[in-house]
Amino acid sequence: MNIKSEKLNKTYVKNGLLFNTEVLNNINIEIISGQKIALTGPSGAGKSTLIHILGLMDRPTSGKVYIDGVDCFKNDDKYLCVMRKNSIGFIFQFHYLMLDFNVLENVLLPVWNERQIKLKYARNILERLGILDKQDHFPSELSGGEQQRVALARALINNPRIIFADEPTGNLDRVTGFEIEKLLFEISLELGSTLILVTHNEELASRADRIVKMINGKINTLI
Ligand SMILES: Nc1ncnc2c1ncn2[C@@H]1O[C@H](COP(=O)(O)OP(=O)(O)O)[C@@H](O)[C@H]1O
Ligand SMILES: [Mg+2]
Repeated sequence: MNIKSEKLNKTYVKNGLLFNTEVLNNINIEIISGQKIALTGPSGAGKSTLIHILGLMDRPTSGKVYIDGVDCFKNDDKYLCVMRKNSIGFIFQFHYLMLDFNVLENVLLPVWNERQIKLKYARNILERLGILDKQDHFPSELSGGEQQRVALARALINNPRIIFADEPTGNLDRVTGFEIEKLLFEISLELGSTLILVTHNEELASRADRIVKMINGKINTLI
């Protein structure tokens, strides 16, 4: 799926206009279907804000986001929700797994009403990620790397055409983190999905089709 933003602005207003924070400043970006993008830049640059808006989890103050030509924010929240469910996978820095649910149940959460139909597919994904033997375990019984693999499996259950990952390895040691990001790249290649990965790993960033660098709410360099 294609994503395009036009003059995207995001401003947070605190205590009236006095502490107006401009987090995104006229962002124009176009990501072609299937492209792998590494999004880099210092903390506070606006990376998370940008991908939350491109991923339809938050609305901009002004500007547009087109997904496959559709002006998404013209629509109501219900439309955005359906679009997210059908087409978008999100992986966060922290795994946000449900602690009372086992691995398989966590992976099936986004498709809970169809969990019987999706069971085989969920197990296939867990196998691909090398954690099928952990399917009955609870999150507390897993290592950090395994927990993040479960979060990755959960993001993949709806076969998303666009995958966003926001520093998904920020909580992991270097080697484990590298493994997870590598898996993410490989799988998005296999699926032909568009990938937007916020990462500080330069080696992985260099494997991306494009590196987009953000500074102070603006896109600084495009390679
Ligand atoms: N809900 C909010 N209210 C006010 N300011 C916010 C809010 N969310 C983020 N910010 C500010 O927006 C800026 C960019 O944040 P963020 O997008 O998280 O950056 P990054 O992911 O690059 O570290 C930061 O200065 C942060 O303090
Ligand atoms: Mg962030």
